[in-house]
Amino acid sequence: MAIRIDRLAKVFTLQTDKSTYQMKVDDHGTLLHTYFGAMAEETDFSYLIVPEDHGYCGQPGDVAGDRTYSLDYYPLEYPVHGNGDYRIKALKAGWKGQVPCLDLRYASHKTYRGKYALEGLPALFANQADQDVETLEITLKDLYEEIYVTLFYGVFEKKGVITRSAVVENRGDKVLELRRVMSAGIDFPAENLDLIRFYGKHTCERQFERSGLFHGITEIGSTRGTSSHQQNPFVILCSRDATEDSGDCYGVSLLYSGGFKMQAERDQFGSVRLVCGLQDDDFSWELSKGETFAAPEAVLAYSGQGLTGLSLCLQEAYQDNLIRSSWKNKRRPILVNNWEATYFDFHADKLLAIAEQAASLGLDMLVLDDGWFGKRDDDNSGLGDWQVNEAKLGCSLRELADRINDMGLEFGIWMEPEMISEDSDLYRAHPDWAFRVPGRVPNRGRNQLVLDLSRKEVRDYMKQSIDHVLESANIAYVKWDMNRSIDCVCSAVDPSISQGALYHRYVLGLYEVLEYVTVRYPELLLEGCSGGGGRFDAGMLYYTPQIWCSDNTDAIERLKIQYGTSFGYPMSAVSAHVSVCPNHQNGRVTPFQTRGICAMQGAFGYELDLGRLSGEDWKEAKRQIAWYRKYDELFRNGRYYRLVSPYENQDFTAWSYVAKDQSLALLSVVYTDLHANPHAARVKLKGLSGQARYRLEGKVYTGAALMLGGVILPKPKQNYDSYMVCLEQVLP
Ligand code: GLA
Repeated sequence: MAIRIDRLAKVFTLQTDKSTYQMKVDDHGTLLHTYFGAMAEETDFSYLIVPEDHGYCGQPGDVAGDRTYSLDYYPLEYPVHGNGDYRIKALKAGWKGQVPCLDLRYASHKTYRGKYALEGLPALFANQADQDVETLEITLKDLYEEIYVTLFYGVFEKKGVITRSAVVENRGDKVLELRRVMSAGIDFPAENLDLIRFYGKHTCERQFERSGLFHGITEIGSTRGTSSHQQNPFVILCSRDATEDSGDCYGVSLLYSGGFKMQAERDQFGSVRLVCGLQDDDFSWELSKGETFAAPEAVLAYSGQGLTGLSLCLQEAYQDNLIRSSWKNKRRPILVNNWEATYFDFHADKLLAIAEQAASLGLDMLVLDDGWFGKRDDDNSGLGDWQVNEAKLGCSLRELADRINDMGLEFGIWMEPEMISEDSDLYRAHPDWAFRVPGRVPNRGRNQLVLDLSRKEVRDYMKQSIDHVLESANIAYVKWDMNRSIDCVCSAVDPSISQGALYHRYVLGLYEVLEYVTVRYPELLLEGCSGGGGRFDAGMLYYTPQIWCSDNTDAIERLKIQYGTSFGYPMSAVSAHVSVCPNHQNGRVTPFQTRGICAMQGAFGYELDLGRLSGEDWKEAKRQIAWYRKYDELFRNGRYYRLVSPYENQDFTAWSYVAKDQSLALLSVVYTDLHANPHAARVKLKGLSGQARYRLEGKVYTGAALMLGGVILPKPKQNYDSYMVCLEQVLP
């Protein structure tokens, strides 16, 4: 049983194979958070809450005389504004025009087999085989008013993850105004915890950053309307001594692709509260009688085996229970994308020449990137006009796709459906469809504006244009791009909607369109993208099984980007391509082999003019393709181990994939510095079977030797050299 309820003691315990999570309803009806951590059977952790009279820690109004009862330091399951708790809150709401004030107490609960769903929002799901998944709903009610909050818990016992969401319901007669509705809050007892977050910028996403938590509030988030390049909606809290292989680690991931907020507060007594959810900057959402509001889902995971254990847990859960696409268990096409090969300067002949090379190299697909529609020879015009520019292309989309198909390749295409250029027919017809503040010139990003996806007619137009494109040719793949931060958020329909609410309506609109596309075209491979990895989040993974990880295709910078991404996301979702050198983003020159090894870390492809490959590189590309095909299952479904961090070792970075049955492993190493008179370096493998014997370049070693002693690495022969080797178990 994943959910255990002690009715007498009013204790709710969520049990997974890796963790225990516990809450208790106290004598006042307050839902306390008593424990989250390593699996602990049959323990009521409420003894850890010691009632004490602390100065300046007050009592809720109905708790007369007992100065030892204060919600200002008790660990709370869903802290709210207005009941004497001065720490960060999960919920702030009240009747419209009145002071926001709540005091939630236990009302009821229910449990059922399977996983709850959230209408219009991405959420983890249970597959038919997942008989272990259960849901707990706990409903809380305001002490004074008909305001209800139901906390949802999805318990994936075998996967070791717990999901959370909160649904607010107004059953009163007045209008309820929500100012902040977070998905989850977790209170940790006083302990030295580090916070790991993944910051970045365009072309440099998800950089690993770890620091201690000082007293006060540490906050990350995005106010850009997207999850953003700058911060990722995934954080890890871990014990100060946690490493890749040991220590307590708590991962918190938000299934949301818009603005978000995650705050960690170390309070006056050293306890830590983490809350995560929707960005609440200028957020105001009104609920009339009978209406509800659902917070996006948060996923919590605990590992007592360090960061690796945490990543493996999340990666598996996302691979099996978040990504829905029919592609998740299929080999992804090895593709060539024309962006860095041609940018906007192409016509059918140029594309067909690349396709011919791709076919003779043995690739699976050609993807036509930006510039094929409307008037679009640079990035200043055309967005919104999703009609093929036959004059530029020299043929119809169908003809192009057919000719590419005739070569034995599939055809994919780029779209950016959420955007509108001022220089477009769409804008000339519907200038009010773009977000803009009346009477002001809108702020531009990449010289484009953002469509108001809160409007049905806009979403309908998006759906029709996507249908029109997908039905005009044999298209197997769409790269769904989104190339600016959202700004001037104001709807022409109702300029009074708060910006925070409109940002959220935008994301709900986006999810509606993505849902439409994924349901209508179940075989279509959708790749997410936002100037690379500006919307690399678990919300998007529900719709798109892979996401273009970064516009930075330099293999060496990708080491850190992909390293950071691997903490919270499956590597099969990381789209990565081999591009030319000097690299277009930073000018670096790296060997072709190294570019291949880095790109094979995820969904593999090329992004260059194949016709310009040297004979040597052509041969290497053939090797890469054969290698990727051969080990496809391992790359997609194997366990991914970070072996040597690009932050801790200046000389090389290493990672590996190990088959779930431990019969096969792949070790990849990229050298990042060279030295005269070097001594042989080694890397210790992980995740092998200690007793099993593995063949490595003709010699046989025990798994234990490879994990404890390590593999001796060949010495690098040139700058940014690399090494990839397969280890196969030798059957006794
Ligand atoms: C974004 C994407 C790129 C490319 C361009 C096209 O920047 O991340 O890969 O598709 O748009 O304009």
